[in-house]
Amino acid sequence: MSQTLLLTGATGYIASHTWVALLNAGYKVIGLDNLCNSSRVVVDRLAAITGQTPHLSKAMSATARCWTACSRSTASLARSISRRSRR
Ligand SMILES: NC(=O)c1ccc[n+]([C@@H]2O[C@H](COP(=O)([O-])OP(=O)(O)OC[C@H]3O[C@@H](n4cnc5c(N)ncnc54)[C@H](O)[C@@H]3O)[C@@H](O)[C@H]2O)c1
Repeated sequence: MSQTLLLTGATGYIASHTWVALLNAGYKVIGLDNLCNSSRVVVDRLAAITGQTPHLSKAMSATARCWTACSRSTASLARSISRRSRR
């Protein structure tokens, strides 16, 4: 049975090439990408190149989700301080 690998940033420049190499080497690949700097078109290209159906999970990594939450809290705090200073 072939190994299944999780490939992050999967539709980006480096990982999309890695994805082709891994499929050609016989691995099963689950791609994870939030498409913030790439396109779903890459998945179609991967299918055309490899003759296989790529599995893409469109998700944001947990670390990025944490950073997003932190920056929202910081922005909210800054707005609140700004409102108070105007009173
Ligand atoms: N034609 C070229 O020569 C060419 C083309 C593209 C990039 N590059 C170079 O390659 C280098 C880097 O390429 P890369 O593949 O590391 O970058 P990339 O931006 O191409 O790939 C990163 C991928 O990660 C995804 N991503 C980013 N944050 C995410 C998150 N929080 N959760 C899930 N997915 C997330 C993006 O959508 C993207 O698809 C750069 O130096 C760049 O200049 C060269």
